[in-house]
Amino acid sequence: MATPDWFVQLRHAAPVILPSMLQCDFADLRTDIKRLESAGAKAFHLDVMDGQFVPNFTYGMPIVAAIRACTKLPLDVHLMIDRPERYLANFRAAGADGITVHAEAVENLTKTLAEIRGLGATAGVAINPDTPVDLVASSAAGCDLLLIMSVQAGFGGQSFRPQALEKIRQARTLFPPECVVQVDGGVNLQTIGCCAEAGANWFVVGSAILGQVDYAEAFAKLSAQAQKIIE
Ligand code: DX5
Ligand code: ZN
Repeated sequence: MATPDWFVQLRHAAPVILPSMLQCDFADLRTDIKRLESAGAKAFHLDVMDGQFVPNFTYGMPIVAAIRACTKLPLDVHLMIDRPERYLANFRAAGADGITVHAEAVENLTKTLAEIRGLGATAGVAINPDTPVDLVASSAAGCDLLLIMSVQAGFGGQSFRPQALEKIRQARTLFPPECVVQVDGGVNLQTIGCCAEAGANWFVVGSAILGQVDYAEAFAKLSAQAQKIIE
């Protein structure tokens, strides 16, 4: 199946900043989504946590569907759940355009990635700080996106772990150029430049946007910082 257009466009648009919707106002999602769209968001990153794979619990399909109803932008869904293969079709039906599973949480990574593509979504694999990149390299051909966690998955607002930079560099050598390398956790004005320099294409940002008063200003500064390095 051909790679979906939205993904090809966003891949070419790198560096791309994806706001993480962990800290938005869930009672007024529409307002936060519109504010983020006018601030420059090109896609949204949704963090699904099940209280099993990670100790935290966030939301599931109904909230993904609610966000879907508020925006036409692509939804990049990061599943921090045990055995995510059980719910792929549900998240796709709820409106996920890209689905990322954790290598540590699936039984058969290659098969799971193929299932995601089979649903018409792009397939991503995420690795926690203690999981080496070469552990997932054998699945590279079946994966559209590699998510390098720069914090232990589970909570927003943690500090960036610089060990992620070496993993990003390694990913750029082990994965084909058409595979997007995404970094998530503690990405802010101080850390985004190093991630871009190491070879990351897409940047997930929570607190450094949603924790700011002016989303547009935060977006502009972060983009400028990432752009400076990549150009
Ligand atoms: C952490 C999540 C991240 C997180 C990012 O498990 O995957 O997407 O919300 O938030 P910040 O940017 O605050 O670290
Ligand atoms: Zn995430």
